[in-house]
Amino acid sequence: MNQQKSSPTAHMTNNEIMQKLREDNDRHAATGERRRAYILTFGCQQNVADSEKLSGMCEQMGYVLTDRAEEADLIMVNTCAIREHAEQKALSVVGQYKHLKAKKPDMVIGVCGCMVAQEHRRETLRRSYPYVDFVFGTTVLHHFPRLLWDKLRSGKRMFSRESENDSKVVVEGLPIKRDSNYRAWVSVMYGCNNFCSYCIVPYVRGRERSRNKDEIIAEVKDLVSRGYRDITLLGQNVNSFNKGSEDGYDFAALMRDLDTIEGDYTLRFMTSHPKDATVALMDAMAGGKHIARHFHLPMQSGSDAILKKMNRHYDTERYLSIVDGLRARMPDITITSDIIVGFPGETEEDFEATLDMLRRVKFDMLFSFIYSPRPGTPAAAMEDQIPDKVKNERFDRLLALQNEIAAEKNQTMVGTTVRVLCDGVSKNNAAMYNGRTEGNKIVFFEGNEEDTGRFVNVRIDRAEAFALYGEKVN
Ligand code: SAH
Ligand code: SF4
Ligand code: F3S
Repeated sequence: MNQQKSSPTAHMTNNEIMQKLREDNDRHAATGERRRAYILTFGCQQNVADSEKLSGMCEQMGYVLTDRAEEADLIMVNTCAIREHAEQKALSVVGQYKHLKAKKPDMVIGVCGCMVAQEHRRETLRRSYPYVDFVFGTTVLHHFPRLLWDKLRSGKRMFSRESENDSKVVVEGLPIKRDSNYRAWVSVMYGCNNFCSYCIVPYVRGRERSRNKDEIIAEVKDLVSRGYRDITLLGQNVNSFNKGSEDGYDFAALMRDLDTIEGDYTLRFMTSHPKDATVALMDAMAGGKHIARHFHLPMQSGSDAILKKMNRHYDTERYLSIVDGLRARMPDITITSDIIVGFPGETEEDFEATLDMLRRVKFDMLFSFIYSPRPGTPAAAMEDQIPDKVKNERFDRLLALQNEIAAEKNQTMVGTTVRVLCDGVSKNNAAMYNGRTEGNKIVFFEGNEEDTGRFVNVRIDRAEAFALYGEKVN
């Protein structure tokens, strides 16, 4: 059953529905307080970017945003499914809202994002969380106003059904309320076709599809003209941008075109799959004026046998050749990566091979994960799953080695002056300001309020594995 067809609002456009809700919320506001919306986001930057669209739609519908769930009239939980832990956290938070709703029966609760694209999770929500009012997956984000309106009008719970077609379209023009006025996320493509054997993303985010290049260029131009300083292009595999298109306009071409936009800003991208990392992209980066010299290139494992079982379509030799290609063009480039430990069948030798790759490449930063079986993926059904004890032990060894490497690498920055985009007062130390370098490393320094959202030069005088410390200079 397709939601759109069965909906009593099928004849209305999204904007008309948002307008209706706005009128309703305005009428309510006239009697006292304006209705509030609370949005909680789990997962990666794609979800953060989606939540900025949910926020934009909420505002257009006449809600004010709040950061306190207990005072909300509408709660949205945007979920992640990448690991078991992410799903448990989301379900546990949704569980806590039962009490809020008991106190405030008019409250409306919606759950969206990657977790709910899985039938067994929808079933869990349907059965065990009866106070959840509506549910929809990432490919139908734009149905949010429609589902909310239908729920409010009919009082019935709404579980949107995603169809194959939903995962083929790119919806443009949704309002976006950005969290920051100097850092921005811009999606260039959605979905993933790679089906790495451990990963749930291709099942929950649908097939790869790219945005029109002119829409992207216009969005980035607009952001730069409004003073945005750091713009990250998003996609599960940005190198798949426009793959298969006849005009040959690929991600490297897009980067080259965006780089010609005048202004004081940095352009970055996330994520690239090593199998599709092109020479053209490396050249675009090396020749770019605004492109950050930072490459996040998930390696996942340093064992060729495991990479094969992961369905990654590259081996360590190919991986090293990309690293060499990047460093030959940009000796100062920051290279970061993702690693999974404890993939099914990973032997001690396989794991040692990963440690060896860490020693050879010397990543600046690593995001390491303990393998989490995802129901429905090939790896979850593989024999020889690794016991938790072994996974944890390997994870600790990986972190210990990477800490040494990162500390050593950061140490070489002491005495240099780096450009830092300031993010304001540090959350952990009110006496310090912090910001990020071109390579996305965190830097602490004594700053002042005017620095927030601006580039400042900092001379590094101390380094640790996870942070740099320094003094502002002119
Ligand atoms: N599209 C990106 C990855 C997005 S998911 C890419 O291919 O590089 C971010 C990271 O989560 C992955 O790189 C991987 O390291 C990790 N990950 C994905 N599935 C996982 C699983 N089942 N268990 C543990 N980590 C996982
Ligand atoms: Fe997952 Fe692989 Fe796609 Fe990345 S490329 S999202 S790891 S299937
Ligand atoms: Fe999670 Fe979905 Fe991102 S599964 S990591 S929020 S694409």
